[in-house]
Amino acid sequence: MSDIQYIDGKQPHQREHRLIFKNIDRVGWNPSLDTYRNDGGYKQLKDALKWEPKAITNEVKKSGLRGRGGAGFPTGVKWGFIPPNNTKPVYLICNADESEPGTFKDRYILHQDPHQLIEGMVISCFAVGAHLAYIYIREEFPEAAEILERALEEARNANLLGDNILGSGFNCQIHIHRGAGAYICGEETGLIESLEGKRPYPRIKPPYFPAAMGLYMCPTIVNNVESLCHVKHIIQMGAEEYAKLGTPRNTGTRIVCVSGDVKKPGYFEIQVGKMTMGELLNDVCGGPKDGRKFKAVIPGGSSAKILRCDEKFNVSCPPGTEKREISFEEIPLDFDTLAACGTMAGSGGVIVMDDSRKMSWVLNNLNKFYAHESCGQCTPCREGSTWMRKITDRLVAGKASPSDIDTLNSIAYQIDGKTVCAFGEACSWPVEAMVDKFRAELVSETSEDNESIAHSAESEAQRRFLQPQG
Ligand SMILES: Cc1cc2nc3c(=O)[nH]c(=O)nc-3n(C[C@H](O)[C@H](O)[C@H](O)COP(=O)(O)O)c2cc1C
Ligand code: SF4
Repeated sequence: MSDIQYIDGKQPHQREHRLIFKNIDRVGWNPSLDTYRNDGGYKQLKDALKWEPKAITNEVKKSGLRGRGGAGFPTGVKWGFIPPNNTKPVYLICNADESEPGTFKDRYILHQDPHQLIEGMVISCFAVGAHLAYIYIREEFPEAAEILERALEEARNANLLGDNILGSGFNCQIHIHRGAGAYICGEETGLIESLEGKRPYPRIKPPYFPAAMGLYMCPTIVNNVESLCHVKHIIQMGAEEYAKLGTPRNTGTRIVCVSGDVKKPGYFEIQVGKMTMGELLNDVCGGPKDGRKFKAVIPGGSSAKILRCDEKFNVSCPPGTEKREISFEEIPLDFDTLAACGTMAGSGGVIVMDDSRKMSWVLNNLNKFYAHESCGQCTPCREGSTWMRKITDRLVAGKASPSDIDTLNSIAYQIDGKTVCAFGEACSWPVEAMVDKFRAELVSETSEDNESIAHSAESEAQRRFLQPQG
């Protein structure tokens, strides 16, 4: 990798370990099949087609790869959930919705290295027995969709897709499906409904786990763009070598997207758990802007609970060892430690806020997004997300009362765990964490004089709804 030249100003940081982003911003690189093949591309597909499909699933299991789309679920284990006696068609769906605020990694793969994704998808299809796959791409990526269309055409013409791929006897087609611009289409069952041509109301799990009852009620594997790219590298390196990257249970590399109040925001591919939050923010991203101090960070996309930069955590660090106290800066960027710290690694979107930021504004910004994006299927999420938004609208307008902060918190807890899909948590966790960690600051922006506004008819209605029914 050392002989690879990158465009001036876009060289990877020395702490990065690039597998997935190896070709991003590379001098002389373009998304064509020729370029990809001249660099050894599609060799892993050729190799994989000689394996037993089950052996590939086992290799992915052994690699420890965990999904990079949000939940961090082990990819090989998910593939293994396809019912063993299944007689229906199996589908693979690449989730290219990339809708989680703060996340901007998949778009670079789609724009600059589409054949890496296609190769990963065809290997994955072969492993799970899928002959038809879809790339569900968000509406806001029209250019990426065109680049992908061209790449798929090239792959078809080169017999890397279609019938009897590379003479192996394996048939596989990939189609692109363009979304219409809804965050909920990133949720896998909402995505499936949308792909079926319906309103994207997520399905309840259980029973509708896609691996058993997915697209057209057939077994369906939904994986994120980045996750599917890793499959190619697992075949290339072998599971054992791949698992040496990162840390046990948190293997491989992942792309973190840093935005907000740092000197050098951007995308960075790091070994999972081998870098701490402090190293990422200070060494890789150049620290806070001049004259500023870090105040808070959302570590895994906007749905992840916010962390204060002066917090201490009592956690097993590294995972599996005795608990000990660590500072915010000492948190290793892995799935398990971030979960133990009460938040999540999620989709890798690290949103940084310095001491110039008002938390009321930040929370209102999040609440606006979630109130707009709720699909409306379940009452707690549909009504609650709007109520939360209305309260923080009042807060930023200087019209909230101290009791509003309790109402806000109460609404969040009435949503959390009571909805069809995880959007319920996505919209309530930011509120719960913000009230928990920045209550004093939020309350300082309220006034008892606004109590009458808080007790308006609408607020009363909210309060009555939230009273436990005796
Ligand atoms: C509200 C919501 C939005 C989501 N948006 C995305 C998304 O844009 N991209 C994505 O890959 N996963 C998204 N997910 C996670 C998917 O449901 C699913 O877990 C993921 O695509 C599985 O892929 P992985 O196992 O490779 O991570 C979202 C989940 C929820 C609850
Ligand atoms: S939780 Fe929200 S987004 Fe999910 S199904 Fe219910 S209303 Fe729709």
